[in-house]
Amino acid sequence: MTKTIKWGILGAGKIAAKFASDLNKTHGCELVAVASTSLSRAQQFAISHGAKHAFEGYGALFGVELDIVYVATPHTYHKEHTLLCLNNGVGVLCEKPFAMDETEVDEMVKLAKTKKLFLMEAMWSRFLPSFLKVKSSIEEGRIGEIKTIAADFGFQAVYDEKSRLFNPELGGGAFLDIGIYPAFLSLFLLGYPSKIMAASIFAPTGTDETTSFIYQYDNQATALLNCTVGAYTDCEARIYGSKGSIEMHGRFHEATRLTFFGSEGEELETLEFPRDTFGYNYEIEEANECLRKGLTESPNWSLADSNKLIHLLDKTREVAKIVY
Ligand SMILES: NC(=O)c1ccc[n+]([C@@H]2O[C@H](COP(=O)([O-])OP(=O)(O)OC[C@H]3O[C@@H](n4cnc5c(N)ncnc54)[C@H](OP(=O)(O)O)[C@@H]3O)[C@@H](O)[C@H]2O)c1
Repeated sequence: MTKTIKWGILGAGKIAAKFASDLNKTHGCELVAVASTSLSRAQQFAISHGAKHAFEGYGALFGVELDIVYVATPHTYHKEHTLLCLNNGVGVLCEKPFAMDETEVDEMVKLAKTKKLFLMEAMWSRFLPSFLKVKSSIEEGRIGEIKTIAADFGFQAVYDEKSRLFNPELGGGAFLDIGIYPAFLSLFLLGYPSKIMAASIFAPTGTDETTSFIYQYDNQATALLNCTVGAYTDCEARIYGSKGSIEMHGRFHEATRLTFFGSEGEELETLEFPRDTFGYNYEIEEANECLRKGLTESPNWSLADSNKLIHLLDKTREVAKIVY
């Protein structure tokens, strides 16, 4: 019989609610407990999403039996809350960005390895069928050699210096929050770049409102990437190769539609990837499967992969002068 994976959620904010909704649609797992800084928020969350236990204070989560905790707090707390779970003997799926920088990620990875516990960054796009199709199509040579990638992610956030998106103490800014997706896409398809160019425009709080960045690769490819919390943009990605291109329709990081074009730009085929979830079910299935197999990391989005990504984010921030 398939083991039912017991989940806890740490932090009852916006993404936690969407994740819980998808968890309830995923087979072979259950939401056992939620912990919040506020008891009433935890109780309301538990009622809305069918969790058996609601706790005030994150430490209380470990009074019940759990296989894994989903950490859904702001970026600046990812390390602290991941370490809290690992030190209490429970594996972790931690929201992106995995932590604020590589030093923090190293500490998380080290503890997970010492404790022999599961740890994975919630880089959910990696597991979406549309992303897998893009990857396999490129590997099959469908668009030839990648020449350039263009990808952007932008929306207009209401300026509030205390909000997660603008407050430096919560790791605010466009780049770590949404720039991570175009950075991830380029890493996923082209690997680590040989040269990084980047420029940011800053909000009054000092967090980046817009970051534009270019990655250059040894194999004659480039990626032209952008993120902003100042304006709604197309949020599309297009991968141009020597024999054609692939459009990942907006918002590309959660794509449910791909269009393939031929070498002269002629439209060849559109594929749909319908779903009745937000798309977090795929990363949940991956974590469930790893836990059932007794793995301490995902072979498909490994800790080394997360390390490469945070290293790339750190180096890009350095060039763009984004400082926390
Ligand atoms: N994968 C995705 O698609 C996706 C989408 C959005 C966000 N995210 C990531 O998820 C994380 C949370 O984002 P969110 O949009 O859910 O944020 P949010 O709505 O502000 O929720 C964050 C939660 O963290 C807890 N928290 C603990 N200490 C806090 C503090 N000092 N200030 C604010 N909140 C604190 C709060 O929950 P309690 O008070 O209930 O404990 C809060 O509700 C971020 O790292 C973000 O990058 C991922």
